[in-house]
Amino acid sequence: MNMSDRLTRIRESEKNSHIETYTKENLYDKNSWLQKPIKTARELIPLFGEYKELRVLDLGCGIGRNSICIAETYQNITCTVDCVDLLEIAIEKLRQNAKAYGVERIINGIIKPIEEYEIRQDSYDLIMAVSALEHIDSEESFIRKLSEIKGGIKENGIVCLVINSNVRETNAETGESLEAQFEVNLPTEKLQSLLEDIFSDWRVLKTGVAAQEYDIPRNGIISHLDTNVVTYVAQKTELQN
Ligand SMILES: C[S@@+](CC[C@H](N)C(=O)[O-])C[C@H]1O[C@@H](n2cnc3c(N)ncnc32)[C@H](O)[C@@H]1O
Repeated sequence: MNMSDRLTRIRESEKNSHIETYTKENLYDKNSWLQKPIKTARELIPLFGEYKELRVLDLGCGIGRNSICIAETYQNITCTVDCVDLLEIAIEKLRQNAKAYGVERIINGIIKPIEEYEIRQDSYDLIMAVSALEHIDSEESFIRKLSEIKGGIKENGIVCLVINSNVRETNAETGESLEAQFEVNLPTEKLQSLLEDIFSDWRVLKTGVAAQEYDIPRNGIISHLDTNVVTYVAQKTELQN
């Protein structure tokens, strides 16, 4: 089986799984992973309190779990939140949610693969990618995109990355081992050292690994996922020796 077969298969299954979730569940539904913004994103919100203008990019934004609350907080300043996702249904629901929360002026939904979304130099104060970069089509594009993200952050800006690593999937009913449906599935330590290298001249605001397990729908079965979630938040700022 060559890489492109693998990629097509994973993309298809990943797409179906998200379409199923976004069709059945709504933003901030109880008992859903969409029930609230992730803690790390909530912690970032006050850090831009002094800003008169704020530009945010949310890569693999889904239906706006982490970006709607930022838009709500900063709706009284000049704020733009560019939200990129390859799924039409994600952006459609994102736009509905933006309207429902009165921030449609701020949220800019873009249907595009992350790989194809060009990040201009020094253009964002915050770039977030929550459980998204591991779905980039190859390890090479993943590393390239990390460098592009770095280049896209303005002085004092922040990068917030949450990335699954060392993912294992099994059939929840039978325990049979399944192919992990993640395009980039790096060993945890390799991912951590990659991030440390790329952002070595930035101030690290938060870093950590959390072992997590949960069940998700996959092509008619329930897959049990074991993953090490790597969180990495860093700021582009002068480092004092
Ligand atoms: C696990 S969800 C996370 C969504 C959102 N970041 C959140 O925390 O709620 C991953 C999202 O990334 C999107 N995605 C996956 N691969 C992508 C790619 N290559 N380019 C753009 N979006 C992608 C999926 O459609 C899905 O909405």
